Amino acid sequence: MDGNGRWAQQRALPRTVGHRQGAKAVRRVVQACSERGIEVLTLFAFSSENWRRPRWEVDVLMKLFAATLRSEIRRLDEANIRLRFIGDQRAFSPKLQNYIATAAQRTAGNTGMTLVIAANYGGRWDMVQAAQRAAADIATGRLPSADLTLETFQRYICLADLPEPDLFIRPGGEQRISNFLLWQLAYTELYFTERLWPDYDADDLAEACAAFASRQRRFGQTGEQAAGAADA
Ligand code: IPE
Ligand code: MG
Repeated sequence: MDGNGRWAQQRALPRTVGHRQGAKAVRRVVQACSERGIEVLTLFAFSSENWRRPRWEVDVLMKLFAATLRSEIRRLDEANIRLRFIGDQRAFSPKLQNYIATAAQRTAGNTGMTLVIAANYGGRWDMVQAAQRAAADIATGRLPSADLTLETFQRYICLADLPEPDLFIRPGGEQRISNFLLWQLAYTELYFTERLWPDYDADDLAEACAAFASRQRRFGQTGEQAAGAADA
């Protein structure tokens, strides 16, 4: 989610207002995705690099995160949405960690859309935490080192139990991945739009989905092979 600051700047408003408007866009887009029958939506809420922002802005983002979780949890639960969180949560206040755990527990049994919030997440961090956990299992003999393969290693990467993402959407005009799901995005279709996150709505989502539908996914095969597989 990108462009909150610019959205506010364009209106000569403080960045904080852009972040609050961005939180409203989260509610809108979560609902739109859930209604479209999307199985998994992962939102990049706060990256491991966002701590580099001015202290006051980090504080605003943390407060907004906690407040949004608290105010939205009931609505999400009623919509049968299952909440999950990825990222290193140890950096958050105990109160926020508690909201996170409560939200995940409360919705764990829901069977509708899975909403993943990436908070203090980074794609490189993800790979390192996977390597650390794999190394621990090798040390205890749970994983014989000869069995460390692509398949066994990727079980340690975040969201290994979910399908790999089909579509990556970055609003806000920048064309980069910025340390999002690096491993998981290997074959994901990338989609970039100028729309600033606070303005993002169901129509923008429909546009992104239409663009996705027009792509041919080859996964390393030739166009003919992929077309054949799609017909089969
Ligand atoms: C995204 O908007 C919000 C977060 C990173 C949490 P930005 O704050 O990055 O907005 P711009 O890039 O300054 O417009
Ligand atoms: Mg930005």
